[in-house]
Amino acid sequence: MTGAERREQITAGIVERTGISEAMIEQLVHGFYAKVRKDPMIGPVFEARITSWEPHLAQMCAFWSSVALMTGRYHGTPMVKHMPLPIDAAHFDRWLELFEATAAELCPPAAAEHFIERAQRIAASLEMGVASGQGVMLGVGERYRRSEAGAVQ
Ligand code: HEM
Repeated sequence: MTGAERREQITAGIVERTGISEAMIEQLVHGFYAKVRKDPMIGPVFEARITSWEPHLAQMCAFWSSVALMTGRYHGTPMVKHMPLPIDAAHFDRWLELFEATAAELCPPAAAEHFIERAQRIAASLEMGVASGQGVMLGVGERYRRSEAGAVQ
């Protein structure tokens, strides 16, 4: 079996187990960013950088397709994009809270769980990246808090 065939087989297994489809990803992404944009804590961080939402939403659908269904649709460098953002543990917690609420509202439980597990892992790795960009090396389970690190709030 080739690598591509193996990947297709894994994707088929995920689809069968969770019911995730490109249409579901589209709903999740659009529903999530509708909440994000209205959020007083993280909304402004996005609004300060995203001038055009359509391409960002398309990019996020490709990202979640790659992450959840392993379609390889996304080609980007999320770590590089997040390292300069003025964010810390509180922002990541809020991001995850909104993401988990949206997934629970819009997806069947097995699909929501699949998305949320991946979001939590990626958020933790982005938080480590943001911290290391500020010269802070997080240990396992440690969180990045700018006030404790002595940096700007
Ligand atoms: C504190 C929470 C977060 C904030 C405030 C945030 C903010 C942003 C902003 C402003 C951008 C646009 C960057 C640019 O184009 O210059 C972006 C892009 C992106 N974010 Fe986040 N983000 C957060 C968490 C996450 C998490 C947890 C994930 C994944 C699970 C994620 C995935 C992405 C991806 C894939 C992009 C597109 C990068 C690209 O252009 O290829 N973000 N985010």
